[in-house]
Amino acid sequence: MARGRIKNVVTGAGPVPLLLVGAGGLAREAAEAARASGDHHVVGFLDDNPALWGAPIGGAQVLGGIERVAQYPRARLLLGPGRGRSRAILRQRLEGLGVGEDRYATVIHPRAVVPPSCTVGPGSVLLAGAVLTADVTVGRHVAVMANAVLTHDVVLEDYVTVCAAVTLAGNVRARAGAYLGQSCSVREGLTVGAWSLVGMGAVVVRHVGDGEVWAGVPARCVRASDGPPPVEALPRPATVGPRVPRFPVHDGRGRTRLA
Ligand SMILES: CC(C)(COP(=O)(O)OP(=O)(O)OC[C@H]1O[C@@H](n2cnc3c(N)ncnc32)[C@H](O)[C@@H]1OP(=O)(O)O)[C@@H](O)C(=O)NCCC(=O)NCCS
Repeated sequence: MARGRIKNVVTGAGPVPLLLVGAGGLAREAAEAARASGDHHVVGFLDDNPALWGAPIGGAQVLGGIERVAQYPRARLLLGPGRGRSRAILRQRLEGLGVGEDRYATVIHPRAVVPPSCTVGPGSVLLAGAVLTADVTVGRHVAVMANAVLTHDVVLEDYVTVCAAVTLAGNVRARAGAYLGQSCSVREGLTVGAWSLVGMGAVVVRHVGDGEVWAGVPARCVRASDGPPPVEALPRPATVGPRVPRFPVHDGRGRTRLA
């Protein structure tokens, strides 16, 4: 789990090769963010659609289907689909091809704001203008799109998607795979349930349950969502546990740290 702004710690010698898995809109946005960061060199995209193979996309090429990942053992990876559900299924498939969690990059656009009190997990991407204010926790394979604002103590569990211009007030928790549609806002202290979807422009003033679609102002439950991905693709025990309050500890030698 990286704290604050990510540095290229893999080789210490120039940009790290990066493969985008999937060639859709978020994958191309992530490629641009990776290039802008200077931390990554975009090798290309992998996508199972043969019609795309060889095509120049987002300043690189679609190199072939997902199985080709074996040919790039030194490249770091980022899952491209916009839906967390699809990212979870793809990650499971890649695991079957021998890809471990240590292969995933964390991509942060240089115009995203990530203070040192915030953490961002592997496989996650923050696009330009994303602002994390203080003590924000972003899990694994999370996508935070342009100009989203995550205020103090927000927690995004694995596979969450936060679309452009979303605003999350303090202590909001988005459980695994939740999808927050563009420009929605969520009142402080609320939870958006696992694999739920909040519609564009919604104003969420009540807890959202698991597997529900909410829309409107104020938001109401309108139907059930597609729900979680197949069991085998579900996240391992959460990397993002309940927030444990941090308090100063003195070591008796005049030094203080947060425990
Ligand atoms: C809420 C949402 C999931 C509903 O999608 P859907 O189930 O396919 O529903 P439909 O588009 O068929 O619309 C059903 C009804 O809900 C209304 N509706 C759709 N989206 C709405 C929204 N965000 N807020 C309020 N009402 C909405 C429609 O006008 C329609 O009303 P009607 O039955 O009176 O005509 C979808 O519109 C949405 O907001 N998705 C998020 C999109 C997004 O953020 N994309 C970002 C991509 S990066």
